[in-house]
Amino acid sequence: MNNKTLLENLRCIPDFPQKGVNFRDVTTLFKNPKCLQIMEDELYEMYKDKGVTKIVGIESRGFVMASALAIKLNAGVVLCRKPGKLPGETVQESYSKEYGTDTIEIHKDAITEDDIVLLHDDLLATGGTMKAAYDLVKKFNPKKVYVNFLIELIHEDLNGRSNFEEGTDITSLLQV
Ligand code: PRP
Ligand code: HPA
Repeated sequence: MNNKTLLENLRCIPDFPQKGVNFRDVTTLFKNPKCLQIMEDELYEMYKDKGVTKIVGIESRGFVMASALAIKLNAGVVLCRKPGKLPGETVQESYSKEYGTDTIEIHKDAITEDDIVLLHDDLLATGGTMKAAYDLVKKFNPKKVYVNFLIELIHEDLNGRSNFEEGTDITSLLQV
């Protein structure tokens, strides 16, 4: 029922940002208070007993629910950003994605070995972005790393989950 509400409110935009891409636009979930509440409640139920101390949100659409959930879980928020945006010393990881290549980075002092980390992004497509973020977070040697998406694109050409080694703890609220 909750997922039905989310699905009904998720907008699809054909041929964005380029021809052939059917873009799932999560901004229509973010602008809807009922959808925001459903997403926050579901994420809270999934992670409330995991001892999460840091939520790493991936720029930029990952920042929204990372922040909302962190407040509920009494965890900190860490920004995983595109290069040149973070002012302090950073650790970086490069990756290729559905349309181009990119690098992401996290402040060097943002995560410690005592942290239990939840990596969060709005959407899993090829998985390139999250795999890079996962590898980046692993460099900090935290106690445990969880991975979550609002939306997981299920398509034979994508198979984003295959980037991750078996046993990686990955969840998504919607599979489309
Ligand atoms: C989108 C999306 C994910 C990533 C998914 O971000 O928010 O971060 O691409 O694609 P992948 O699984 O193929 O790596 P984008 O780079 O468009 O950045 P934005 O959130 O700042 O718009
Ligand atoms: N929606 C949002 N972000 C994306 C998509 C999409 O369909 N594909 C790759 N990144």
